[in-house]
Amino acid sequence: MKVKGLVFVYLSLFLFSAIALFVGCQSQPEKTEITDQQMIERGEFLVKAGGCDDCHTPKNFGPKGPELDMTRRFSGHPEGTPIPPVDTTLLNQWAYLSHDLTMAVGPWGVTFSANLTPDNETGIGTWQPEMFINAMKTGKHLGVADGRPILPPMPWQSVARLSEEDLKAMFMYLKSQPAVKNKVPEPIPPTQIPSVK
Ligand code: HEC
Repeated sequence: MKVKGLVFVYLSLFLFSAIALFVGCQSQPEKTEITDQQMIERGEFLVKAGGCDDCHTPKNFGPKGPELDMTRRFSGHPEGTPIPPVDTTLLNQWAYLSHDLTMAVGPWGVTFSANLTPDNETGIGTWQPEMFINAMKTGKHLGVADGRPILPPMPWQSVARLSEEDLKAMFMYLKSQPAVKNKVPEPIPPTQIPSVK
């Protein structure tokens, strides 16, 4: 009886282990869900590493030279800033940047860095992630297929190499930042560049 009992116990254990092993092998590896907070943190890393502040954040000029003005972070070229006339005869060889890097002049005309804060009227407040992803992937203004090209020096060609997931993370980070109202001017075409001559 004792031996029979033991055999029964061993058999049950064996069977149990076999079932456990079978079930274990069947179950899928757990899919890790990325939380919104993790996406925003990834976006922050990419936006900082991507140097978006350089051109999209206005600067203060102190004893240490230009410093990012964090109260207007990502708000783009400050509206109402006068556009100094340039020597357009040099534009076939030179391009110029304003000292806060938010305005550029070159053969493409005059361009102003966009407001990337979530302000509804002047920033990306009403943008959907697809608009941002399409704009960065295709180089078309607002991500519209037949829109005007996004002009230099916006380095969209480099940003386009990121995955859609990474671009979405950047967008979510930008959307999580404080909104700043600042209406950035439209680009000025090459024929209308204010010239000293
Ligand atoms: C060297 C300067 C520069 C850097 C660096 C830069 N940008 Fe820009 N960006 C610009 C300028 C200038 C424009 C406006 C271009 C235009 O009007 O066509 C612009 C426009 C944009 C726009 C608006 C696109 C549209 O639909 O018209 C987005 C979005 C944008 N940048 C995102 C970024 C992000 C994200 C980064 C960091 C990875 C970045 N930019 C880095 C200069 C820059």
